[in-house]
Amino acid sequence: MTMKSVKILFLFFLFNSLLFAQIPTRLLSSQIESKIDSIIRLMTLEEKLGQLNQIGGTWYDTKTERLNLEQTAMLKAGKIGSFLGITGAIETGRIQRIAMEQTRMKIPLLFGYDIIHGYSTITPIPLAEASSWNPELVQQSARIAAIEGSAIGVHWTYAPMVDIARDPRWGRIAEGSGEDPYLGSVMAAARVKGFQGDDLLKYGSLLACVKHFAAYGAAEAGRDYNSVDLSERTVREIYLPPYQAAIDAGAWTVMSAFNDIGGVPSSGSSWLLTDVLRKEWGFTGVVVSDYTAIMELIHHRIAKDSTEAGIIGVTSGVDIDMVSRIYVDKLTSAVRSGKLSEEIVNEAVRRVLRVKFVYGLFDDPYRNSKPGKEKELLMKKEHRDVARQMAKQSIVVLKNERELLPLSKNVRSIALIGPLAGNENRRELVGTWAWAQKPELVVSVIDGIISKTSPGTKIIYDKGCEIESDSGARIEQAVKAANRADVVIAVMGESQGLSGEAASRTILDLPGRQKELLKALTATGKPVILVVMNGRPLTLEWESENISAIVESWHLGVETGNALADVLFGDYNPSGKLPVTFPRNTGQIPIYYNHKSTGRPFVPADKYTSRYLDAPNTPLFPFGFGLSYTTFGYENLTLSASTIKSTQSITVSVDVQNIGKRSGEEVVQLYLRDDVASVTRSVKELKGFNKISLNPGEKKTVQFTIRPDDLSFYNLSMKKVVEPGTFTLYIGGNSVDCMEASFEVIE
Ligand code: BGC
Repeated sequence: MTMKSVKILFLFFLFNSLLFAQIPTRLLSSQIESKIDSIIRLMTLEEKLGQLNQIGGTWYDTKTERLNLEQTAMLKAGKIGSFLGITGAIETGRIQRIAMEQTRMKIPLLFGYDIIHGYSTITPIPLAEASSWNPELVQQSARIAAIEGSAIGVHWTYAPMVDIARDPRWGRIAEGSGEDPYLGSVMAAARVKGFQGDDLLKYGSLLACVKHFAAYGAAEAGRDYNSVDLSERTVREIYLPPYQAAIDAGAWTVMSAFNDIGGVPSSGSSWLLTDVLRKEWGFTGVVVSDYTAIMELIHHRIAKDSTEAGIIGVTSGVDIDMVSRIYVDKLTSAVRSGKLSEEIVNEAVRRVLRVKFVYGLFDDPYRNSKPGKEKELLMKKEHRDVARQMAKQSIVVLKNERELLPLSKNVRSIALIGPLAGNENRRELVGTWAWAQKPELVVSVIDGIISKTSPGTKIIYDKGCEIESDSGARIEQAVKAANRADVVIAVMGESQGLSGEAASRTILDLPGRQKELLKALTATGKPVILVVMNGRPLTLEWESENISAIVESWHLGVETGNALADVLFGDYNPSGKLPVTFPRNTGQIPIYYNHKSTGRPFVPADKYTSRYLDAPNTPLFPFGFGLSYTTFGYENLTLSASTIKSTQSITVSVDVQNIGKRSGEEVVQLYLRDDVASVTRSVKELKGFNKISLNPGEKKTVQFTIRPDDLSFYNLSMKKVVEPGTFTLYIGGNSVDCMEASFEVIE
């Protein structure tokens, strides 16, 4: 034995005794860093690259062993640092035991999984949750997801997805919080806090992963995986704020996106991953690539082979290679041949180990692998209660002519029509990213309505048509059902696979023959309520002109039927507001409320202004819009000053009164416009909101503080500044119908 190997052996034993000598649960970050130093010193290059390697498992199966022989051998050789998609307390425990007992370094594994809107207790899709404008509830929803995720052995959820999306053709709009950077930031922070809890070391917390960094939502033409080309100004002003808000809220991991931005793939962008994320924002956690995104650097044609792709990825700041296996397979020789500095690898390993430390895995590698917990925690009654509350508040009423809604629970007969109304398509109601869904545990609309209405109410159900098929064979029968009832509830929209990843669409009408069915139902002359279930804004222009009541349900999760019945029959007064603009037709896309003025703002009488010949510029339903069963009046808009210095704040207050007959909640929204600036600014930007509840006749004063940061923007040198001049502020219940006031900022 040489001196060198004696030394290594000594360090190795020292390290193991350090590991098992009861490491205190709460380590100071300096203690963690010095532990990491000693671990890295003991690791071989292969083991280091192993920590940067994430292997994919099979998604659905929780019963059988999920590593094949090759993967098991890799694991034992220390060549795997984390897994994706392996769940189950027993199986994650079994695999962790291999890492802890049969690898040289005994470094615990991380288990990652996409828990986007609940695991077993599936809550509404994120776009729906954003419609609640209720961050506390969204935080609770993420909390129950984290508790259930912990129960199934997972440590790390690939959420929240915080990509701003201005294009509803892009199916992944369903996974985010819509089009607005402010609302998106509030929701991003709420979800991170919900997933990570108030203490990562406590049972029931998951590591959050902010994705997809960055600007994936701006995929050209709304086609998934497509290129993005945006100015740095737009990236910073519109797309980056929610990621930063998530980091500020304490997110420990980030996922680098598939897309390139202006010629640089996000997963190979040192500007994004090192300059902005780490140097500007001070992020010290881990960046994981999106699925095979390191390999895709070759398809982007910025790397000629996998070695080059791996070098670009790790050098620009992607620490973990999700399933490409390029780091583990190719980077050893890249380091040995001098093409890649081992220091860069060490830095990435340091971040991975840091996250494993802060999550307490060195202390208790089996923290989430406790078999009894699955039974105890999945689909708990309390979790379903949160899911129902969340679902109710996610619903947005878009039209309600002559107060058709709410319906009486004693209505004599209801024709319940449509492919999403009955029990057979229950799996579609939960929406995208719901791998563990059990359709039999989803409350269908028919069941929700039956349990809400009086025993005497007759419910005549007919599917009417399929979600997507070409056949209109059942339409006539559905019309007969409608004719026999007092009121028609049509439940239509998209299947779960029509939104989410790889689900872009160019036509956003109701799919298949559903619109034809709806037209036939309307022709009966019966009052029709349309309940739309979807993962994105649909084009509902005909519907908005011809249907008396439209309820935007989105994909609401396991409590769909109960939540909808609560709203349809008035047990809950709807309070949801759109987090995204609804276009009249796809030709208007991209359409969003915070657009620029242009040099030729629209003037109705002037053809040579910014307009279409065949459609208005205005959306069908604007951002922030949603109806209640009561009415809210706004008055007394008051500012604390008419002039402030650029370093000062200003307070604005408004009285909001419930002038209708039912108790209800209103989302009071505050928008600002910088009237004149050195670069063009949006016509209006959301800067605050407050969801309040009011009894009939009750009045509340709502107050907002506008801080210098709310007034600032990136100037020509990309510095955030507040420029002197006048500002207009708008307050109201949506982005269009607002009261206005103005104030001036001086040096
Ligand atoms: C998606 C990510 C997801 C990852 C792992 C990718 O295809 O873009 O959002 O987290 O798969 O499942």
